[in-house]
Amino acid sequence: MRKPVVLITGAGGEIGHGLIEQLAADGGRPIITLDLAPLEPGMNRMVAREFTGSIMDASLLEVIRSEFEVDTVFHLAALLSTRSEFSPLTAHEVNVGGTLNLLEFAQHEAESNGRPVTFLYPSSIAAYGLPSLEAKTAAGRVKEDEWTHPTTMYGCNKLYCEQLGEYYARHYKQLSAASLAGRVDFRAVRFPGLISAMTVPSGGTSDYAPEMIHAAAKGESYACFVRPDAQIPFMAMPDGVNALLKLAAAPKGALTQTAYNLGAFAPTADDVRTAVVAAFPTADITFTVDTKRQGIVDSWPADVDDSAARLDWGFAPEFDFARAFGDYLIPTIRQRYEGMGK
Ligand code: SER
Repeated sequence: MRKPVVLITGAGGEIGHGLIEQLAADGGRPIITLDLAPLEPGMNRMVAREFTGSIMDASLLEVIRSEFEVDTVFHLAALLSTRSEFSPLTAHEVNVGGTLNLLEFAQHEAESNGRPVTFLYPSSIAAYGLPSLEAKTAAGRVKEDEWTHPTTMYGCNKLYCEQLGEYYARHYKQLSAASLAGRVDFRAVRFPGLISAMTVPSGGTSDYAPEMIHAAAKGESYACFVRPDAQIPFMAMPDGVNALLKLAAAPKGALTQTAYNLGAFAPTADDVRTAVVAAFPTADITFTVDTKRQGIVDSWPADVDDSAARLDWGFAPEFDFARAFGDYLIPTIRQRYEGMGK
């Protein structure tokens, strides 16, 4: 009998990096990965099999299906919000078409294995779109069903894929004689901006916070592309990874919704700068506002109401703003760049 495995797409990205480490440390199911680029040498030792290729390649997905019994999918591959605005059609193809390919993959896998496939999907605060700063201030901590009018291609893609996942989970081929829905056990989180001490993001709009921290640690100047008062929620990467794992392990009956907000702290860009300067007193951080990227950040909520995740499956981030900097980001980043000779 084939052993069940976990599939991670976009495994070489920021979340994948942390997720592989945690899954490998937990010692559960073997991990197989799919990414456009080969994994870093340290990472590939933690996985049972690494596929280098695209989520758009249906025949490669067929090869994976023929060789492995996948019972859990973490579908992380995507183009982030800034990059998606430069090539919206490619973004749609990858973010929507690629997700559809993985949902079909999971459906077929579940049908042939005779049990559901758990499908974890990282959605985003980009699923929201607030029309003005006044509305953003008045809205405060938004709930999952409020202000879902994204202004970015990435946000549209994420919101629609949440719906596609729900379709597979509840209504797939609803007119066929035999019921085929429910084979994909689709679960989504709407991540805030994620900050990792190990990797620097690329192509996102929340990147100013991690970029500021990593630049200071490397002794480089940084011009922040949003205003000092720009505010969105953020989370330390270990909490993001733990949230995905906790949601994957939650009993299905406890889940009352398809997509869950997650939050941890919601600093302004100036709060981030102050914390960075406290840790690296010689840091040279200025503000050179890119009004267009600022416009995207302004359309995202200042904070989110994550009470459903806390109530339904016990989401409880370990790192608030002070702990994220004091116990995770600053010590880990220092060590990382000292080890690399900066
Ligand atoms: N970090 C993402 C981005 O900036 C938001 O999900 O695109």
